[in-house]
Amino acid sequence: MHPEDDRNSRALLLRGGTVIDGTGAPRFGADVRVEGERIVAVGANLAEDGALVLDATGRIVAPGFIDVHTHDDQIVLSAPRMLPKISQGVTTVVVGNCGISLAPLVHANVPPPLNLLGGPDKYVYPTMVAYVAAVDAVRPAVNVAALVGHSTLRVATMDDPYRQATPAEQARMGELLREGLAAGAAGLSSGVFYATGAAADIDELALLAGITGEAGGVYTTHIRQEMDKVLDSLDEAFATAKRGNVPVVISHHKCAGPRNWGRTIQTLAHIDAARRDQAIGLDCYPYIAGSTVLRSEMVDGIIDILITWSTPHPEMAARRLAGIAQEWNCTQQEACERLQPGGACYFQMREDDVQRVLRYPATMIGSDGLPHDQHPHPRLWGTFPRVLGHYSRDLGLFSLETAVHKMSGLSARQFRLEDRGEIRAGAYADIVVFDAATIRDAATFEQPKTQAVGVDCVLVNGRVAYRCDETGLKGNGRFLRRVRQQTSPGA
Ligand code: ZN
Ligand code: CU
Repeated sequence: MHPEDDRNSRALLLRGGTVIDGTGAPRFGADVRVEGERIVAVGANLAEDGALVLDATGRIVAPGFIDVHTHDDQIVLSAPRMLPKISQGVTTVVVGNCGISLAPLVHANVPPPLNLLGGPDKYVYPTMVAYVAAVDAVRPAVNVAALVGHSTLRVATMDDPYRQATPAEQARMGELLREGLAAGAAGLSSGVFYATGAAADIDELALLAGITGEAGGVYTTHIRQEMDKVLDSLDEAFATAKRGNVPVVISHHKCAGPRNWGRTIQTLAHIDAARRDQAIGLDCYPYIAGSTVLRSEMVDGIIDILITWSTPHPEMAARRLAGIAQEWNCTQQEACERLQPGGACYFQMREDDVQRVLRYPATMIGSDGLPHDQHPHPRLWGTFPRVLGHYSRDLGLFSLETAVHKMSGLSARQFRLEDRGEIRAGAYADIVVFDAATIRDAATFEQPKTQAVGVDCVLVNGRVAYRCDETGLKGNGRFLRRVRQQTSPGA
């Protein structure tokens, strides 16, 4: 028998580790027993009882991390090993963020930012049902939960997504959204920051948010503006969610641009006040640079900009825009135009703001990694170990228990992923074993495709899906269907 088959047909006993259970509770020493796809016991000195023993002495045993903000829709199908994520201890990715989802849309030449998902020609799933079937057929290394993207709905239903939608077009978007939610999508995402979503008014957004709320889903949003108008943009998101009677997640919360540095004091106080009468969560990645497609209005001549890809000038990936402009003897604006279509990292945040948002109790960790970029932002390979190593252990921003909670228990609750995100009997055995003393991100802006250090072993649905010293393990991820089809408000 192949050792992998043997290991997967038997019960597993993670022995001698320290459990951080994902709820935020203090760690405790315990063995963890796994049978089939679930954890069946957590306790001291569990009997071996025929199980294959995995030694976890000196290690932390935690729930597999949930990457709540990804653009992995297509990569889970085309590169299902998902090494950038599984090597960080991630066991579930939430795809379809920022208004961009691969389904439901068939289109040979999507406009930006939909091309973030691996190119303009990757949209071949007319329904969410078709996408779910593709994920389950491929069995990627990680589980997949999906949001239906608002920009995707607009491109699917409108000849011109840069204008207001007619009532008939909005009704068609609603139908497609209902299909997605019925297929098990976790909710709706919007990216009204982007041109494909920006022409939508609050009535359109609230209509779709309402459909999402009725189905018991969640609404995530890349708000209209994260610079001078960040407060107005937050208010729009809150009002939309309130009208739709749906919990909202503010994506990658930040205050961007030098004029707004320090303003997270203000925005978090604002969010705190709004949270008194509606459900609001946040996600955040642990870096001072953002990354998206090349956008001329983000080229201010002040902040540093690193090119991540360019179709006409692939040789400029990994170079700074200022240097390119100098070499071409033109302005940064002109250089930006010549590099289009392309992508970039924008060093648009300040460290104290990043730390304030990370520390905020309702903030979950989401990488926002862009797996198709030629020279990607290091968050793709480093986000989770960076929070555990750099921010929790080295800087002492919060306890390791809090760090784990922000990437597991809190996230599962927010996205209604039932029996995920916790180490307890009855939960799915999505588990990461890591070394608290050595875990760290190794990906940098110069060398972004570098695997993190300190993750020993990862289980997905009860099977070993990653070991730092072993290759060729089979994927055991699946599509996670939203469980609650109905919520009755007030009940
Ligand atoms: Zn975004
Ligand atoms: Cu995003």
